[in-house]
Amino acid sequence: MSDQSEQSIGGNEQPLYLDWNNSIDVLDKAFENGLFALIIGPKGTGKTSLVREYAIQKSRELESINFSLRTRESHLVGTKNLVDGNIGFDEGILVKSMKEGNILYLDEINAAEADVLLRLDEALDDRRQIILKESDGKVIKAKDSWFVIATINPLTHVGTKELPPQLLSRFPVRIRLDYIAFAKLLESGVSAKESAKTVFGNVYSQWGNVEFQKVNDIIASMFGS
Ligand SMILES: Nc1ncnc2c1ncn2[C@@H]1O[C@H](COP(=O)(O)OP(=O)(O)OP(=O)(O)O)[C@@H](O)[C@H]1O
Ligand SMILES: [Mg+2]
Repeated sequence: MSDQSEQSIGGNEQPLYLDWNNSIDVLDKAFENGLFALIIGPKGTGKTSLVREYAIQKSRELESINFSLRTRESHLVGTKNLVDGNIGFDEGILVKSMKEGNILYLDEINAAEADVLLRLDEALDDRRQIILKESDGKVIKAKDSWFVIATINPLTHVGTKELPPQLLSRFPVRIRLDYIAFAKLLESGVSAKESAKTVFGNVYSQWGNVEFQKVNDIIASMFGS
């Protein structure tokens, strides 16, 4: 949400989210049925944009974590702290989102280590609860409004593992985003130039500004500027 306001303050034109495959509705149905969702797609296919747009449209709080090999259980669950001689507990993002009933966005979940995934799996099963061994075995139960959306990038191989089938099964609703979005956008009446910019321009930006500029020049030369 803050991204959007920052961009408009900066005077940049905020790209409208184009829901070319009705993903917002699919997410909503998943939520209404108490099912978690997995968004599968390579870099730049709009996974993050979709989740942000969904949260905006539903006016819901979003808690996000981007997984890497350095993500620890403590980031998810929390850690004990000591304040004025009293032992307390700093809640991690998972515990916080369960208690508040927010949307939890688990980005690039397939980059997480096995112990981290195991802990997630505990919270994601039907009981929707987690036992805090870090805090005297306290049981945290998720609110009904708790909703989890994860993403995986099927083309990333470095630092990425296959998700264990058991964890995959916690996300029965799957949304695939792909570069085929270009064709879909065209079909839905978006101009060829806008479609190319949305899909390919943004894909190339991951290799840096020079590549991004090159592809934008190509798009401009093909479709006119
Ligand atoms: N459906 C869409 N409508 C409008 N803009 C889009 C759409 N999909 C992607 N974009 C634009 O493409 C860019 C990349 O999208 P985004 O960051 O959401 O992709 P991602 O799949 O999360 O990528 P990564 O794997 O790198 O995290 C953003 O600038 C976003 O605004
Ligand atoms: Mg992303």
